[in-house]
Amino acid sequence: MQVLILGGTGDATALATHLLQLPGVTVTSSLAGRTLQPSAPVGMIRIGGFGGSNGLATYLQEHCIDLLIDATHPFAAQISWHAAAAATTVGLPHLMLVRPEWQKIVGDRWLEVETVEAAAQAMPKSAKRVFLTIGRQQLAPFAPITDRWFLMRSIDPPAADLPLPSGELLLDRGPFTLDSERDLLKKYEIDAIVSKNSGGDATYAKIMAARELGLPIVMVQRPPMPQGDRVADVPSAVAWVKQRL
Ligand SMILES: NC(=O)c1ccc[n+]([C@@H]2O[C@H](COP(=O)([O-])OP(=O)(O)OC[C@H]3O[C@@H](n4cnc5c(N)ncnc54)[C@H](OP(=O)(O)O)[C@@H]3O)[C@@H](O)[C@H]2O)c1
Repeated sequence: MQVLILGGTGDATALATHLLQLPGVTVTSSLAGRTLQPSAPVGMIRIGGFGGSNGLATYLQEHCIDLLIDATHPFAAQISWHAAAAATTVGLPHLMLVRPEWQKIVGDRWLEVETVEAAAQAMPKSAKRVFLTIGRQQLAPFAPITDRWFLMRSIDPPAADLPLPSGELLLDRGPFTLDSERDLLKKYEIDAIVSKNSGGDATYAKIMAARELGLPIVMVQRPPMPQGDRVADVPSAVAWVKQRL
C-alpha cells in the first residue's frame, strides 16, 4: 500500500511516523520546499510542486500511489484543491487531515476577517505596535502602513524583493510556550496581534497570552476547502488508512 502524504505540518510529520509502523505500508511525504531546513518526516520525501492538479495526477499514476492524504496547512488552499481534483481524475481514495479551528472563548478579543489583505485594513486604530504572526509570504499588504510598528515572526526570512512594513523581523519556529509568548508581547510592548486561525497546539500560546493581557487579535479566517473525506486528527487518519489495507 503506497501512501502519499502532502505535508508541511506537524500533523503530516506525525502521520508519516504512525503509518510507517503499519505492516505493508510505504509512505512518501511531499513538501513544497518553502522552508530552508524543514523538520523532515520519516520515510521517503519528495520536495517541490507537482505542476498543478494534472501534474499531481500524473505523479499519482506514475508512482502507483494507492491512497492520497492531504495533511497540508489549512491556509495552503491551492494544493488542497489540486489534490482533490487529482484524486478524482485518477479515482483514488483521498483524505483531508484538517485540524480544528481555534474557537473564541470568554476573554478573547477577536476581530475576524476573511483575508490577510482585509486584516491589514482592519487593525484597531489604537494599535501602534503590532505582532504579525502570519508567516513570511503575505507581509506585503502591511508594507504601505507607515504609522505603526510591526514585529514579524517567521521560520525563514521573507524573500528579499518582498515589500515589508517598518519594524523588526524575528526568526523562530514553534512550538511556543505561554511564558515565552507573554514575555515577547510585553518585551516589545505589543498592543495588537494579527494571526491566521491555524488551529492546533503549537502556536496557540500567543492566543492565550493575548487573552491574559487583554490584547485584540485580528484573526484571519480559513479559506474554503474542497468537499470530501475529512478527519481532524492523526489517529483518525491512521484509522482511515487501516480500513483500506
Ligand atoms: N500557508 C500557510 O500559512 C502555511 C503554514 C505552515 C505550513 N505551510 C505548508 O507550506 C506549504 C506551502 O504552503 P502554501 O500556502 O504556499 O501552499 P499553496 O498556496 O496551497 O500551494 C502553492 C503551490 O505549492 C505547491 N505545494 C504546496 N504544498 C505542497 C506540498 N506539500 N507538496 C508539493 N507541492 C506543494 C503546489 O505547487 P504545484 O501546483 O506546482 O503542485 C501548490 O500549487 C504547504 O505544504 C503547507 O502545508 C503553509
